[in-house]
Amino acid sequence: MTDQFAKKAEAWSARFSEPVSDLVKRYTASVFFDKRLALFDIEGSLAHAEMLAAQGIISAQDRAEIERGMAHIRAEIEAGNFEWLLDLEDVHLNIEKRLTELVGDAGKRLHTGRSRNDQVATDIRLYMRAAIDDILALLNSLRGALTDLAEHNADTIMPGFTHLQVAQPVTFGHHLLAYVEMFGRDAERMQDTRRRVNRLPLGAAALAGTTFPIDRLRVAKTLGFEDVCHNSLDAVSDRDFAIEFTAAASVLMMHISRMSEELVTWMSPRVGFIDIADRFCTGSSIMPQKKNPDVPELARGKTGRVYGHLMGLLTLMKGQPLAYNKDNQEDKEPLFDTVDTVLDTLRIFTDMASGITVKAENMRAAALQGYATATDLADYLVKKGLPFRDAHEAVAHAVRACDDAKCDLSEMSLERLREFSPLIEQDVFAVLTLEGSVAARDHVGGTAPNQVRAAIARVRAQLAE
Ligand code: ARG
Repeated sequence: MTDQFAKKAEAWSARFSEPVSDLVKRYTASVFFDKRLALFDIEGSLAHAEMLAAQGIISAQDRAEIERGMAHIRAEIEAGNFEWLLDLEDVHLNIEKRLTELVGDAGKRLHTGRSRNDQVATDIRLYMRAAIDDILALLNSLRGALTDLAEHNADTIMPGFTHLQVAQPVTFGHHLLAYVEMFGRDAERMQDTRRRVNRLPLGAAALAGTTFPIDRLRVAKTLGFEDVCHNSLDAVSDRDFAIEFTAAASVLMMHISRMSEELVTWMSPRVGFIDIADRFCTGSSIMPQKKNPDVPELARGKTGRVYGHLMGLLTLMKGQPLAYNKDNQEDKEPLFDTVDTVLDTLRIFTDMASGITVKAENMRAAALQGYATATDLADYLVKKGLPFRDAHEAVAHAVRACDDAKCDLSEMSLERLREFSPLIEQDVFAVLTLEGSVAARDHVGGTAPNQVRAAIARVRAQLAE
């Protein structure tokens, strides 16, 4: 009898009268990218074989043979000497063929009660669960590194901006903690997605389930899934969990991109708030003086490719009728690239956070420009009894006078200030200093240095959980 796999190289099975062309073979094959799923494929197969044996569908002897063969294959893959064949289309058929070479009929029995459709859906979910766990660990490291930097800069004053115009003084620690919050929500989104990823499709078989007395809960338990997918048609066909993951990754990259934009701006000599360690920058092939912040710029650019993958996956799924369609083979490359991009970006940003030198004197000088304490003066007048709108107007006049005189509010004499409101007294100067301004915003979520320290303690407690 001809080996079914040998036949596949010519035609799929006895059902076919001619083989596919080389172009069609290459067009339909996925092995050169889905081989990344190999170890998850083996893990899923072992759990399936264990269940088949426990249910008496295959013998204990067959199961043992399958385990022996798979251990061998795993070693070959890990050593990099497994031979992947385009003729065998994908990771699943490549491994099954090798198993059959190694253990004979037991290998041919492995596919009892399953299909590549539920097999691939299982592999992707196992892969994604591991990827999410890696991303969560790296998000924690990044949040930790930014929190360390925030702690060193709990008292460092910089201008806070709205519309990119100097608005009010803030502390650099407070500014950094804004990103720590964003990345905290990104972690929550990943954790939430993980719950829906962590369901077992295996047992759905091709689309309708199987006639064999399988035990899906047993397989779910072996593989660490929280539950099984409850509808076989849904289990093999939908990729919403991959879309959801890529959406969460897109939001994460959007946050990375915002931070990148600030790092690039802060490092510009025109701003000069920070320096980024040389190992994250490159020079110019023509301009010897240049030191460019390539890493944050590239991260800003890579955000676009992750958004692209999200649109790709949404479009891939759109309009697909139930149940499995080959379209779904196209889910892998965008997913893999999203995972690679996010993991590398998080690694490099964590490292980069410890390579940031803060130029506190430049931050301070910038905060002294642009009347950053004007709101403090208005609040001061309100506390002396003036309605806020009137206080706002009085300070606007004062700022205008400063503009003409080319000085800061804190540099005006008391006499001059009193022209704008007789309520102003000597104690105004405490309010007009940068330190006084930030220290006065002393409530949960405010920029006062002691609130920054309290926020750091809250984040550290979260990270230790
Ligand atoms: N390589 C395929 C994929 O990634 C595996 C499932 C193939 N199933 C099928 N009926 N052709 O989706």
